[in-house]
Formats: sequence, C-alpha cells, structure tokens
Amino acid sequence: MSTKEYKRTLITAALPYANGGVHIGHLAGVYIPADIYARYLRLRGERVMFVCGSDEHGVPITIRARKEGITPQDVVNRYHEMIKNSFEDFGISFDVYSRTTSKTHETFAADFFRKLYDEGKLTEETTTQLYDEEAHQFLADRYVTGECPHCHQPGAYGDQCEKCGRDLSPTELINPKSAISGSVPVLRETKNWYLPLNEYQQWLREWILKGHKEWRPNVYGQCKSWLEMDLQPRAMTRDLDWGIPVPVEGAGGKVLYVWFDAPIGYVSNTKELCETDPARWGTWQEWWQQQDTKLVHFIGKDNIVFHCIIFPTMMKAHGGYILPDNVPSNEFLNLENDKISTSRNWAVWLHEYLLDFPGKQDVMRYVLTANAPETKDNNFTWADFQERNNSELVAIYGNFVNRALQLTKKYFGGVVPPCGELADTDCAAIAEFKDVKARVDQLLEQYKFREAQKEVMNLARIGNKYITECEPWKLWKQVDAALQKPVVARRGDGTLTSADLKRQTEANACLVEASEAAARIATVLYVSLQLVGNLSIAFDPFMPFSSNRLRKMLCLDSFSWDQLGRTDILPAGHAMQEPGLLFEKIEDEAVQAQLDRLERIKRENEAAVHKADPVKPDVSFEDWERLDIRIGTVLECEKVPKADKLLRFLIDDGLEKRTIVSGIAKFYKPEELVGKQVCFLANLPARKLRGIESQGMILSSEDADGSLSLVAPQRGVADGSPVK
Ligand code: MF3
Ligand code: ZN
Repeated sequence: MSTKEYKRTLITAALPYANGGVHIGHLAGVYIPADIYARYLRLRGERVMFVCGSDEHGVPITIRARKEGITPQDVVNRYHEMIKNSFEDFGISFDVYSRTTSKTHETFAADFFRKLYDEGKLTEETTTQLYDEEAHQFLADRYVTGECPHCHQPGAYGDQCEKCGRDLSPTELINPKSAISGSVPVLRETKNWYLPLNEYQQWLREWILKGHKEWRPNVYGQCKSWLEMDLQPRAMTRDLDWGIPVPVEGAGGKVLYVWFDAPIGYVSNTKELCETDPARWGTWQEWWQQQDTKLVHFIGKDNIVFHCIIFPTMMKAHGGYILPDNVPSNEFLNLENDKISTSRNWAVWLHEYLLDFPGKQDVMRYVLTANAPETKDNNFTWADFQERNNSELVAIYGNFVNRALQLTKKYFGGVVPPCGELADTDCAAIAEFKDVKARVDQLLEQYKFREAQKEVMNLARIGNKYITECEPWKLWKQVDAALQKPVVARRGDGTLTSADLKRQTEANACLVEASEAAARIATVLYVSLQLVGNLSIAFDPFMPFSSNRLRKMLCLDSFSWDQLGRTDILPAGHAMQEPGLLFEKIEDEAVQAQLDRLERIKRENEAAVHKADPVKPDVSFEDWERLDIRIGTVLECEKVPKADKLLRFLIDDGLEKRTIVSGIAKFYKPEELVGKQVCFLANLPARKLRGIESQGMILSSEDADGSLSLVAPQRGVADGSPVK
C-alpha cells in the first residue's frame, strides 16, 4: 500500500467501445467498483475526479459500419448516446463522459504522438503486412481472421485469439482471410511507427514487480508473465482510414493505433472538463502531472497489458506524467454459467433491464457487487438476483428500516424520540456498529468492494436483530393496557372507599410502569433510528438511489462519511417524513420471464450455429437417373440381435419381398414401422451386415442433433412407385 500523502484522486474507468450497448458484465467489472470508489471518496470530502468517455476508433466500429451500410461516425454517434444514458440511469457518477472523436481529443492525441516522434522515442519500421487487393487496404487487427497458430482455433482475429487469449499479429494467422471481402490477402510492405517496449522493460520490472507488489494478484501475475518474456516493439500506427491521422509528413492513409489514442482520452477528457469549469477543476496538468495525484485505473482483465505496460510506457517516454498508483482489474462475470457475449446476445443489457425492472437500479448494483468477480470469474444468475433481493434487501435492510420508521410514526408521530438510559442490549448494538466504519474504510482502500458491502449489510443485520430482540411493539402493549385502566372518580359526597383507593393505586402503578415502558420504547427507537441514519450513509456509495430515498424520508439533508458510527445523526425532536418502502419483493414470474428470454436466445443461437452443409460438387443428370429410388411397404421389422443401431426390414417393393438392414434402431420402435411406407434405394448392390444380406438402402434425413427421420411419401402410393 502506498504511504504517500496524496492531495487528490483521479479515477478512470475503461473507455467503452462505442459499438454496442452496456451490459451487466461491464457494470460489474469496471463501472460499479469505480463508481463506489468515487462516491466513497467524495463522501469523505476528498478531491476526486472520475473520468470516462466513449472509445470511438478501432476496427470493430468500421466493420459494424460496413455491415449496416452507414459511416463509422454514425455508428459511434448512436452508441455514444446510448452508453452515456445507460451509465446515467445506473448512477455511474462520472464527472466527465466525453468521446475520442472530440476535437480536443484528436488534437491532444496527435500532439502526444508528435512529441514522441520528434524526440525520437518511436522507431520506424517497414514490414510486410497483409493487404486486401479487392478492398485496396491493409488488414490490421480484426480486419483479418484465420487459424490461431497456438491453439489452432479457426476464426481467430488478427490481434487476438478469443479461444486461448493470446496476442497475435495478422501475419501469424494460418490461412488468413479478409474480414472485408473474404478474399485471401497478399503481403505488401508498409511503414509504421513503433513504441520500443523492449527499451522500457527493465524500468517496468522495477516499477511494477518491485514497486507494486500490493496490486491484485491477477493484475500483478499478468504483468509478471509479460515482463518475464522479452517485450517487443509495438506498432502505434495502422494503415486504416478510421482514426486520428498520423501527424507526420508522408503518413497519408495511416492513423494512430486505437490503443494509443484511447488511453490518452483519459487525459483529453480531463482537459475538456477543466476547461468547462476551471474554478472548480483547476488545470488538467494538476491532475495528470503532479506527483501528489493518486491515479487509479479501473478496467477489465483483458485491458491489463494496455494499462500496466503500454500506456505507462507511453507516459514515461513522453515524460512529465504520473503513473497509476493502482489498477484494480476485475475478472469476468458469466451469465447463467455461460460467457457473456455481445455477438450471441448472451447478456443482460442495461436498457432492457430497466424496462423490465423500472427503478430497480440499486438491486442490480447490489447484486453485481455482491458477486463482483474481484479475484476470479463469477456468475450472475436470476435465481441469485431474486434471492438477494428478497432475503437481503427486503427482509433485512428494508425490513429494519421500515420497522424503525413505522413504529416511530405510530408511537411518536414521526419525530425522533429522546434517548433514555442505555441498557446492555443498546450498548452491545452500538458497540457493534461503531466498528463498521473502520472495517469498511480499510476494505474500500484495498478495493475490496464485495467485502465492504457485506460489512454494511451486516450493519443492517445488527439493526434488524436489535429491534427484534427489544420488541418495542410488546412494550407498547403495556402502555396501551395502562391507558385502558379507569381513573377512579370521587363519589357525590367527595369520599373514596378503600376499594376505590385500591383501584386508583393500581392504576397509578400501572401508569408508572407504562411510562417506564414508553421511555424504553423511545430509547430503542432512538438507537434504531441512528442505525438507520448510519445505513443511509454507509450504503450510499453502493446503492445511491435508495440511500437518497431513505435520507429524504429521514429529512437528513447534509451528511458525511465521518458521521458513520455516530449515535447523534438524527437528534431527538427531529421530524421525519412519511415512510415508504425501500425495496419490494421480486416475484417468481418476473424471474421466470428473464429465464425464458435467455432460453429463447439460446435456442436462436443454436439454430444459427447449425448451418446446413455446403452443397456437394455437381453430378450429371445421367448420374442422377442411374439411381433407382422407390417406395415400399414395411411388412416386418425387428431388431438385429447384438447390434443396437440396426433394424431388419422386410419390404414389399411391388415386385417381391426384399430384406434391408438400416441403422435407425435408436430412433424408432420396430413395431411402429410395420405397415408404413418408406423410401429406398433399390439398385445398391447387396451387402452383408451382421450376417444378414441387405438388399438396398432405406432413406432417412439427419437432423442437426444427428437424429434420423425416415423419408416417406406424403400420400400413400403403390408399392414400387419410383421417386424422381
Ligand atoms: N475500449 C476498450 C475496451 O472496451 C477499453 C479502452 S480503455 C482506454 O476494451 F484506456 F484505452 F481508454
Ligand atoms: Zn488461440
């Protein structure tokens, strides 16, 4: 852990590609943890900037544009808006969300490159690259697919194999094919500029392997395996027409590599924000070039090499920039035990989720944090989603808050009652929740969001248990009973009998007891309400929407993280609003509807995967005429002993009876076929199968799953009728 005294924290979240929507995998992996961290630091009153934006260059965007017959700019305009809205809807509290096609960014990235170029920090290399002669263009990255040279997966991309995860370059692919025209590319020479990572290897080793042992094991481990190999120079330019033009004379038709320009987007977006409100944000240099800024990159695991090795090397080569203090990277989230995939539509899309579960952003935030893939891949299931909502959010947190607020309303008109003398149970509950702050602080500082949220939920559990044990509703019965006791009236002559006196004394005693009970109820609710106030603060970074709603009910206008653990958040006499429910139960039907949707997608995918086999080479008409295919009726049918696939048929073929053995025993019961008509090839030479002479072949059709279905005429025809 870094002990440096930082003055400000700069949080970045990976810039999403603007070629698709945002799904729960993105949220869980990057944006929710980053948002929790940003909200937490802000609540602590620290100076924070949270930066993101759309990554609008790169080959996948151009491929999509080509497919849809629109321009790449059209593609990114559409998705930039959609992504931005999704983030807003889920309360991801970026201070700036810009884009890499903004003018500021294009200039900034080009200047950055130009400085490296001018100072000789880049090497120039002429290499042979794949070229598509039909489309007249070089095939970079995803423009080319082929067999992976490592795991031999077909369809690997020119920059990466999705099967084995290895980094590739297009020329390594076996049997490459252009993704644009489908043609086989040729080799052609081209000049590009490279970042000589090899020259920085020693420095990277020192900085990461020695200096950042505290990084998450998955991040550190990936860096280590990179840094143990010999790093190679890496091309920072591409022969493409979508991107930021390379700002060098004679570099026409070349653009900056998307992974060069995108991370610079963090800086240029900071600059955009600073320029909109310099009084509040200062200068971008303050955030990116002063050593007392703590820089934290939130990313997914496929981004580790870019944020830990390539981007830091760019900044080091450029000079003047700070380096990240940490790069908390998550592993992947699966959906119902299957890898989330945009192309297979195997995802829960944020915009669709909100249509089905309006207002339930916090439920998703909570569940995704509870299952955050912090140390290993994790799994989202709808059953778990429902369970966590119903038995944690509703039954514990919501229930506790609701009881505390409803009882206060009922007994004290919604005004915080005074706290009397504390009993042991009160002290025990208070002692337990006093520690929560320190624990949550420590966990959040170590980017352990999952455990931190668990601690906060535990606070709600403490509250729920406390109010259950104290049973203020039972105490209230005593108060109620006392109020029922009659007050004894004097007789007409002003006297009281001894019986009257006795009754009066009893009533008085009862009232004393009742007022003690009332004081006790007040204390229990006072303590409960403090816990509720604590929860509204502690849950705020995790579930901002419900925390806000809760604070509205509590009329708690100003608050800070420092108040956590305190017992005077809501002072006696403080009036609150009408309480409402924080969470509601999610019914089986709602969950079933989601499962049905996924089931439908799975079926559609399976259907799409099964493409019919390509058509075989042509046959001549004469060849076709030589086949003698006929209809016959099954006279007998039985299993062939000791052959679990074979059935023996006796067929009336219109001339005589013939025996045919056929391998369809797995798909039919022999007795159900007797009397049915089938189609058979009559002029196949006889051959022996399991000692039986088979005179022909019965025709059947093979389905995608390999099952066989007999082919038969739609209407009965005379046995021996030809099929032609
Ligand atoms: N667009 C990339 C992805 O989705 C992330 C870019 S992060 C940045 O994997 F640093 F380059 F901005
Ligand atoms: Zn591979």
